[in-house]
Order: sequence, then C-alpha cells, then structure tokens
Amino acid sequence: MSIAIVTESKSAEMREVKVGIIGCGGIANGKHMPSLHRLPNVKIVAFCDLIIERAEKAKADFGTEDAFVCTDYRDLLKIEDIEVVHVLTPNIFHAEISIAALDAGKHVMCEKPMATTYADAKLMCEAAKRNNKFLTIGYQTRSSVNHQFLRKMVERGDLGEIYYMCAPNFRRRGVPLWGVFMDKEKQGGGPLIDIGTHSIDAIMNLANNYDVVSVTGATYRKLADTAYNSNEWGIWKPEEFEVEDLAVGFVKFRNGAVLELQAAWLINYVNDGGMAICGTKGGAQYCKEGLKLTGEMADGQLYETIVHPNSTARDLFHGETLTAEQYEAKQWIYSVVNNVPPVTSPEQAAVVSRVIEAVYKSAETGKTIYFDEEE
Ligand SMILES: NC(=O)c1ccc[n+]([C@@H]2O[C@H](COP(=O)([O-])OP(=O)(O)OC[C@H]3O[C@@H](n4cnc5c(N)ncnc54)[C@H](O)[C@@H]3O)[C@@H](O)[C@H]2O)c1
Repeated sequence: MSIAIVTESKSAEMREVKVGIIGCGGIANGKHMPSLHRLPNVKIVAFCDLIIERAEKAKADFGTEDAFVCTDYRDLLKIEDIEVVHVLTPNIFHAEISIAALDAGKHVMCEKPMATTYADAKLMCEAAKRNNKFLTIGYQTRSSVNHQFLRKMVERGDLGEIYYMCAPNFRRRGVPLWGVFMDKEKQGGGPLIDIGTHSIDAIMNLANNYDVVSVTGATYRKLADTAYNSNEWGIWKPEEFEVEDLAVGFVKFRNGAVLELQAAWLINYVNDGGMAICGTKGGAQYCKEGLKLTGEMADGQLYETIVHPNSTARDLFHGETLTAEQYEAKQWIYSVVNNVPPVTSPEQAAVVSRVIEAVYKSAETGKTIYFDEEE
C-alpha cells in the first residue's frame, strides 16, 4: 500500500480543503491549528469547544473571517463543505466524535491515543471503512527525521531480523496538569495511554510488526502522593491523581520478537536513553546526542551517531525546515487531496490501543493476556 510521502513534484495539487476543529485546547493550539494554518490550500472554517471562548479565540487566531463557532460538535458536522475534521478532545470522546464525523462523510484526524478501549478503536476502523473515508491518528513521532531515517534502514534490511525492541518513555517528573489527564474515566489511564502510546506506535511501525501474541504488564502509583507533588506544569492534588504514575509491559510477537515498554510521569530514574531496535545485523537507539547505530558494519562497536539537534525537525522540502507536527499535517492534507492512504492507518493505531489495554488488564488481573484467546 502506498502512503503519503510528500515530494516536490507530487505536492503540485493544491485543491482547497475546508477543515473543522473539535476541541480547541492545548494540542489544537500547540500542534494542529498552527500546522494547518500555514498550508496555503487549507481553510479552517469551523471551531467547536465546550468552552465557547476557546472556540472563539481559535477562530480569531486561525480561522476564516466567517468561521462557524459552536459548543456541540454535531452542529459542526452538519456543515457540508467541511471535508476534514480534527478530533482534539480528551480521549474518552475520540471514538464517539470520530465515528459521528466519519458517518457525516468527513475525513478524520483524531489525536492519540485512538480510543480508550480496543472495542472502540475497532468501531472507528469500521466507521472509516463503511463510509470510505480516511481516518488517521496524530502520532507525529512517525514524521520525525530520525524515525524516517531508521524506518528506511529497517525496510532495506540494514538491521537484519528485528528480535528485540524497547520503548521507554520516562519523565522523571512530568505530570500534565492542564485538561483531564489524571481523570481515569476521561483519559482511560495515565502515562501509558498518554505518552507510552507514542513510543509503542513508533517502535511497532519501525519494526513493521503488529502480530502480537501476548502482553504482560504491571502498573504502579508510588510517587503521586509524595511531598514533591509539583513539577513545571504546577501542583497536583494527590486525591485527584486517579491513574498510574508508572506502567511496564512485555509484549511477545508471533515471530518470536519481544518488546519491553515503560511509561512514567514520575519515577526516580536517570533518563538518558530512549527507544532501541535491535536486529541480527545492526541496532539503533535514540540517545540524548541523537540516533546511535551499531552492528556488524562496525564489528559490534558503536558505528555512527546521527545528530539532529532538534530531533523532530525535518528538512526535506524545498529547503523548508518542518517540525514533525508540520510535516504530519502536510502529509495528511496531501492524503486527502490526492486520495492516498495516510501514513498512520487506523488498523495499526488500533493494535497500539489493544496493547495498552492489555497492559492495564494484565496489571489488574495479574495474568498474561493472550490475543488469540480474546478474538
Ligand atoms: N500528539 C501529542 O503529542 C499530544 C500532546 C498532548 C495531547 N494530545 C492529545 O490531545 C487530546 C487533547 O489534549 P489537550 O492537551 O489538548 O487537552 P485540553 O484539555 O487542553 O484540550 C481539550 C479541549 O477539548 C474540549 N472538549 C472536551 N470535551 C469536548 C467535547 N465533547 N466537544 C468539544 N470540545 C470538547 C475542552 O473544553 C478542551 O478545550 C488528548 O486526546 C491528548 O491525548 C496529544
């Protein structure tokens, strides 16, 4: 299946695309609206938020002069010439709103994680299929230059057979204190579903392996009550901290490969290494200095450090430097205009949601979750 890799010649098609935004909070203002607004063929023509002032401010900052503003997403979905909807609400609403938007005939970009349950994620995939519309999930790590570089290496076979992966996403002290991130019902969990989801998506996409056999997990809530209940985003009330502060998982794939994953908002851990992918010919790890490679090309020694001072920068278009967020938006709109499947498929994102749910289930029950038994 071809995916939307935008090149100079292919991006010639500049048909106008009208976009509606649902949820005008942090990620809308930090990522989606600025990234869409800079694309010359995109017009953001409608904004919805439960807090009307947020929708109005978004209109003033990023919208067309006559943009529509509302508090009920169903009113936005009635606007016929809106072709694309971005769903940027807390996790619990992703499935309901995305399905409604797909059923209203819109292409949907939904923020990560796809859904709080695998059952909901499957319903979202079905809605995209029955309406013949695109659905993608906002995993912008895939658009980073390091990811794209490594993905090419794996595709060419430079790393050989991939059999060990690890996907740590540790914040020593980093609890998001805006929005509803500590609310278990609205988010579905803590750091695993919030930031772990990015690493799980990235590593499975790098290895191109979605054939999971089993998942074992453990979660902890050990530091949420400590005296230092504050970080750069403010102070939290321990009694409102309903989710884990650390999650750990072990995933086995049908071909024998394994993935160790960790996600923390709070942990006493010296955090100086990131994701690693290891094959029979070579391996790579995300480190503070950049992407480091090793393997048979260097007789097992450290081979090369690819330094990208801003690891999310991409520099492949017309001399433009794009952030991963900008590139994600550009690829997404390219997909819509040119009818090319988006980079992140809903089926892949659904497996990520399934792994996350399985870590939580395993932690709760003390058992390993076998996917074949669950079908
Ligand atoms: N890709 C990333 O790196 C990244 C980073 C942060 C957040 N996110 C994701 O973005 C989503 C939103 O997070 P955020 O940080 O923007 O939170 P936020 O609380 O800042 O923004 C969410 C907004 O949605 C509005 N809202 C809530 N329910 C709604 C509804 N039913 N209809 C319309 N509007 C509604 C809220 O009023 C709020 O303004 C979450 O799913 C989160 O996981 C992704």
